[in-house]
Amino acid sequence: MSNSEMFLININGEFFNEKNAKISVFDRGFLYGDSVYETTRTFSRSPFRLDRHLDRLFDSAQKLEFTPRIPKSQIKDEVLKTIAKSPFENILLRIVLTRGTNQDLGLSPELSHSDTLIIFTKEIKEPPAHWYSEGVKIISHKKKTSTLGPYAKSASYQENVMAMKKAQELGAFEALMINEHDLVTEASTSNLWLIKDGIIKTPSSDEGLLLGITRKTVLEICHQEGLKVEETHLTLKEFLSADEVFLTSTNRDIVPIVQIDDTLIANGKPGAMTHKLLFLYRQFVKSN
Ligand code: PDD
Repeated sequence: MSNSEMFLININGEFFNEKNAKISVFDRGFLYGDSVYETTRTFSRSPFRLDRHLDRLFDSAQKLEFTPRIPKSQIKDEVLKTIAKSPFENILLRIVLTRGTNQDLGLSPELSHSDTLIIFTKEIKEPPAHWYSEGVKIISHKKKTSTLGPYAKSASYQENVMAMKKAQELGAFEALMINEHDLVTEASTSNLWLIKDGIIKTPSSDEGLLLGITRKTVLEICHQEGLKVEETHLTLKEFLSADEVFLTSTNRDIVPIVQIDDTLIANGKPGAMTHKLLFLYRQFVKSN
């Protein structure tokens, strides 16, 4: 399959491949990162928790005082139409809603009269098995900007882009991010967790992080299984001295973390509880 057939892209209801998918240079998403987005996926053609992703898209928009002119039901119809048109069973879907195309240069949202809806799809290939069997190394990154308060999934991902760039330069998988209170928030594209003395812990939302749909699903699984779980304030030191550490995101499920900066987590091997959670998570997504 040629590269241009890898992506199927829906722009305002019309389908394109990656070569002919184009938006205006006056689009506010391009000019100012003035957009919100979601990344979700299908399992055997069924979207995973699509309503929750669309709710989060609209929550992000609300945080930016952006009232979408395209109703949620229409976005859902476009997503379902796009899934039906895709040749692949398992696809990643990125749903991007921008405040539209400006009539002139300028910050005012009034310069645009209609939103732009873009739905990218791409086949999901099985992630490398060694991520799960051996675990990954991450680095820590002190945030330069304050993102305290409710976090919107907007296209302004510059801080996360810089954190991921640093991680890659150091041969790491991800970057753990630390806010101005010296508390760990999340990683650049995933949520973080630790396990200490049998208690599963993840940073609480009030430190400024994206409330991942995978994070919520893992919390639900922990409650269902009667596992001890806490959303709490966590420092880098607590991560470094944890028994197990892992990350969660839509396209990676649960990935064990075995090293942060120069410190090995416990014995430097993925822990039993992380593997148990991964097993439970995969069972859960199959049956939902
Ligand atoms: N990223 N935190 C950040 C900063 C993220 O960008 C993501 C997701 C998550 C995990 O959220 P979820 O479980 O809903 O995938 C946490 C996606 C995958 C992305 O940006 O493409």
